[in-house]
Amino acid sequence: PTPDSWRRTDAYLTTTLVTPDPDLDAALTDQREAGLPAIEVSPLSAKLLQLLIRIGGVRRVLEIGTLGGFSTIAMARVLPADGRLLTIEAEPRNAEVARASIARAGVDDRVEVRVGRGADVLPDVDEEFDLVFIDADKESNTIYLDHAARLTRPGAIVVVDNVVRAGRVSDPATEDEQVAGTRRGLEMLARDPRFEATALQTLDLKGWDGLAIALRVDPAS
Ligand code: DHB
Ligand code: MG
Repeated sequence: PTPDSWRRTDAYLTTTLVTPDPDLDAALTDQREAGLPAIEVSPLSAKLLQLLIRIGGVRRVLEIGTLGGFSTIAMARVLPADGRLLTIEAEPRNAEVARASIARAGVDDRVEVRVGRGADVLPDVDEEFDLVFIDADKESNTIYLDHAARLTRPGAIVVVDNVVRAGRVSDPATEDEQVAGTRRGLEMLARDPRFEATALQTLDLKGWDGLAIALRVDPAS
């Protein structure tokens, strides 16, 4: 596929399947104006997260990596009224932009943005989640997966973003620490008895990347 044909197809699928959400559009506008990088999940991936929440009857979400709150708002939108979403963001400036967009979207009643690096904040988190979305510094993916396992019960869903990185993930000699961290995460998902996982390559407006989707399972069964 050429960049033109996959972008056209991504645009076609997005306009066909994803209902526009003015609050998500506004979150992106503000994120760009604030100079945050345009690395939020694609609209189709955000919709996948929404569908996983609805398919799984998810009420409590943990997100690691808020950025400007795009995926946060998308997920919070489909939570039940008594739902909760804790999102962790290392950059105070990102968290500030995200909080404003989350409030404008009217989901601040169920969303908490906590500022700090995941590896520093997560040891103090002690509550249960039904879905964990890992989308932060890729070097720490095994740390995040370990917390995800600790904070969930069998049946929970864990999603990891950016597991393909334009195919660099399959290069065992990679010197890119983020790709190496992604590989360690995938290999942990394969061998850790608390998870059963797959991964899907994606080709969208952000280029060639992918998502890992894991089920938290009972290690004894
Ligand atoms: C980067 C991070 C992301 O989470 C993403 O979806 C795309 C790119 C990055 O750090 O380059
Ligand atoms: Mg990402």
